[in-house]
Amino acid sequence: MKARMAERISSLKVMAFAAAMLCLALAVSAREPVSAKHAMAASNHPIASAVGAEIMKKGGNAVDAAIATGFALAVVYPEAGNIGGGGFMVIRMADGRSIAIDYREMAPAAATRDIYLNEKGDVISGEGGPVTGYRASGVPGTVAGFELAFKKYGSGKLKWAELVEPARKLAAEGYVLSRRLAELFKAYSSRLENYEDSKRIFLNGGEYFEPGDRLVQKDLAATLERIRDKGAEGFYQGTTAKLIADDMARNNGLITLDDLKNYKAVERKPIEGSYRGSKIISMPPPSSGGIVLVQVLNMLERHDLRSLGHNSADKYHLLIEAMKRAFADRAELLGDPDFNDVPTEQLIDKSYAAQRAKSISKGKATPSSELGAGIQVGNEPQDTTHYSVVDKDGNVVSNTYTTNNLYGSAVTAKGTGIILNDEMDDFASKPGVPNIFGLVQGEFNAVGPGKRPLSSMTPTIVLRPDGSFWFEVGARGGPRIISASLQTVINVIDHGMDLEDAVNAPRVHHQWLPDEVIYEPYGMSPDTIKILESYGHKFASSPRSIASATAVGIDKEGYRLGVVDKRADGAAVGY
Ligand code: GLY
Repeated sequence: MKARMAERISSLKVMAFAAAMLCLALAVSAREPVSAKHAMAASNHPIASAVGAEIMKKGGNAVDAAIATGFALAVVYPEAGNIGGGGFMVIRMADGRSIAIDYREMAPAAATRDIYLNEKGDVISGEGGPVTGYRASGVPGTVAGFELAFKKYGSGKLKWAELVEPARKLAAEGYVLSRRLAELFKAYSSRLENYEDSKRIFLNGGEYFEPGDRLVQKDLAATLERIRDKGAEGFYQGTTAKLIADDMARNNGLITLDDLKNYKAVERKPIEGSYRGSKIISMPPPSSGGIVLVQVLNMLERHDLRSLGHNSADKYHLLIEAMKRAFADRAELLGDPDFNDVPTEQLIDKSYAAQRAKSISKGKATPSSELGAGIQVGNEPQDTTHYSVVDKDGNVVSNTYTTNNLYGSAVTAKGTGIILNDEMDDFASKPGVPNIFGLVQGEFNAVGPGKRPLSSMTPTIVLRPDGSFWFEVGARGGPRIISASLQTVINVIDHGMDLEDAVNAPRVHHQWLPDEVIYEPYGMSPDTIKILESYGHKFASSPRSIASATAVGIDKEGYRLGVVDKRADGAAVGY
């Protein structure tokens, strides 16, 4: 059995490396985590994972590998991999330091509170609104975030240029499109065809790509060359910045040269919590992910979920009720911490969870309409991608980044090959009115110049009770990211699943409003649904997939493990 497993593992690795070398598109899956002796990178594209593994083989650490993987995803996974968006990186260094890097997009200086409202006071849809077109983009943060991570936490053994070059080469020489990627361009053609460079590059000038075609991105290769040679300056200043700002100016967009020049990635204090003795390290605001995750875990810790059983109605009842309460707090109390007094410490305190959970009744759902934020204060088809890296020394990177929607705002800034984000929709364009994820949000997250929109990205690292690194996880899928990360943690810690099963097990989602439980196809038996309905829970009219996660871990024998959700493409590649 062991020999068979080892054979399968090494053949997976060889296949994934071969995919990278030959530029073949390939989906790799495993019934157990992919496992390797030294290091592991797991992402939504096998080529990008292989780039990360290769960097570690050359002596780079997990941070170096995460940067190279991120740049490669911007080329081979254009639906979400990006340099025109932003995200969050949580790092745990082998020496025990925990770091959270915020490279979330920032609202341009011209973005005022009501900028997305029409004369009737309604949120503008289409061009001019927060979702599509030139006015939908925040100032991208990815390149600044990667440079900050490199300068402070990179190994120092590899040069920046060595981390960017694999992506540049992939853009210049092209890679073979899988069926999924080719079909996705077509599926999004009604958005992409409205913007000249998006149509030219991703829709093959209107002829469309077929699976097996090679996608070459010359403009993006030239942009990556400038970033390779000049660092973040090659993006935020000079030719690239001018190309972006000029295209914005020609098309009534918001981002200026000054906005680009002024962008800064920042380090923040990670959210730290505990769950049944394990330490949880996650992302603080402007992401809501870490706070909501820890809040729900704190509420659940008071119950013996293991004996309730993974799929039981009573376990789901507790989970749904805890999610409702934490998401209700999210709506009102979370936003950019540089502009609001976010009560972070209070929200993640176990005594607050005890008080908040008091209103959870056994066998009875609380209607969302009866729940608001628990603290009085002074006053996600969506896309994202998560990838995971662990190196030979035990340094770990948990990185989620996004352009928001698939292909962001649908705009490719002319001459750059860069797909720009539509992250402005993560603000509350009109507080109280749902965004594309159906999230209702409050004043804290209103649009404002220089502000960063609230996110649900949840890059999370879990340590064993003895303090050693156990696993990390994160996901793509708007607010459902939080649910996927959360239930992976519960599945490992409470239900004793291995990382593969924990990531792939069926899950549920509730985000306070709308007041409905989202469940997955084949994810819940009709009997369980009946019991939960008798408690008063309302279910979405049909099941649908809830986010997709990526994870790495280290097992007790020191093997590096990697898992990419069966709900998504990708592969874990180790050596
Ligand atoms: N754009 C999705 C999120 O940040 O939550």
